[in-house]
Amino acid sequence: MLILLTGGAGYIGSHTCLELIRRGHEIVVLDNLSNSSRESLRRVQEITGHTIALHVGDLADPEVVREIFSTRRIDAVIHFAGLKSVSESLRNPLKYYQTNLGSTLALLQQMESYGIKKLVFSSSATVYGDPCGLPSKEDSPIGIALSNPYGRTKSMIEQILQDAAFADPLLSIAALRYFNPIGAHESGRIGEDPKQEPNNLFPYISQVAIGLRPKVSVFGGNYPTIDGTGVRDYIHVMDLAEGHAAALEYLKPGFDAYNLGSGCGASVLEVIAAFSRVSKSAIPYDIVAERPGDVAASYADVSKASRDLKWTTSRSLEVACRDAWAWQSANPTGYVDNG
Ligand code: NAD
Ligand code: UD1
Repeated sequence: MLILLTGGAGYIGSHTCLELIRRGHEIVVLDNLSNSSRESLRRVQEITGHTIALHVGDLADPEVVREIFSTRRIDAVIHFAGLKSVSESLRNPLKYYQTNLGSTLALLQQMESYGIKKLVFSSSATVYGDPCGLPSKEDSPIGIALSNPYGRTKSMIEQILQDAAFADPLLSIAALRYFNPIGAHESGRIGEDPKQEPNNLFPYISQVAIGLRPKVSVFGGNYPTIDGTGVRDYIHVMDLAEGHAAALEYLKPGFDAYNLGSGCGASVLEVIAAFSRVSKSAIPYDIVAERPGDVAASYADVSKASRDLKWTTSRSLEVACRDAWAWQSANPTGYVDNG
């Protein structure tokens, strides 16, 4: 297939490029580089020996998308592009609604004009809010009492996609609800490169391990979990990349949502201990107040993805720590200054 990846230069997109090329697909990337750089794709090219066509532009600009659709026979789109900071979305909600909803609508309109019927969308476990039961299943209610605009954009986009698929029986759409993506490609050449202070636990721990930050603040120590700290379902980014390829190859007419996670939970202290073991570095931490909007625990029921997509994770938390450490220690300041 010839696949367009919107936001394909970013963290998850760049790893998915690798996996799609490995499976023999052709890819085109559209990215405005607002949270990434050309360097990630240059390194994907270096690893795979394949050239990637990169269009630098904004997905909300119809001319940019038209240029791609009118010059290439795109079979399917994987839509990663969007803004993803929960804290920024609370400060600037309109920017989040404008970018995430506006660019998705623009993409859907162009797909309709050019008769492109296959779409895989980056959704998030955040749509479950505070889960009413664990593990979270795809048929649980979504979009209820979400704590931030970022999460609401994901839930609203899923609703839009469902309506679009209902109106056009030829459309095949999968919304992939990622749990907590972590790690890097095993080569250590590509990985997560946050432009600002990381909000997420894993890149924060990596930066403490390499000495860029003094210690981790553990948000909350009194949750009803194994050790009082928050529990999440961490998934290696290459397992996630394989999940995209499996979803794309499986797509059926209609709208479907799939949890992509490992199905297991790990606490913040367990993650810190695993990273410390693998990196052989001390990772100082303090237990501080809970972060507003956080839930005690979240992990996935992955039986639907396993049944339909024939996909499950194969990499452990330890392997994710090893690969993240390979990336972080070879690229202490990310892609910048590493040519
Ligand atoms: P990322 O920021 O690394 O990648 C997103 C990419 O989209 C970036 O390269 C950015 O430059 C590009 N982009 C943003 N707005 C654009 C626009 N209007 N036009 C063109 N390009 C644009 O983020 P990621 O971690 O790779 O996440 C990819 C997707 O997965 C996002 O939609 C995110 O919300 C979703 N997601 C991520 C996580 C996570 O923990 N990383 C969890 C759940 C869902
Ligand atoms: C967060 C977002 C979620 C988003 C996801 C991926 C919130 C409330 N949720 O999920 O919407 O889809 O990132 O981008 O922000 N932790 C610490 N110290 C830190 C950072 C995190 O203790 O410095 C803890 C958190 O309390 C949580 C766990 O680590 O228990 C994981 O946090 P994080 O990586 O931010 O992911 P989520 O909160 O699951």
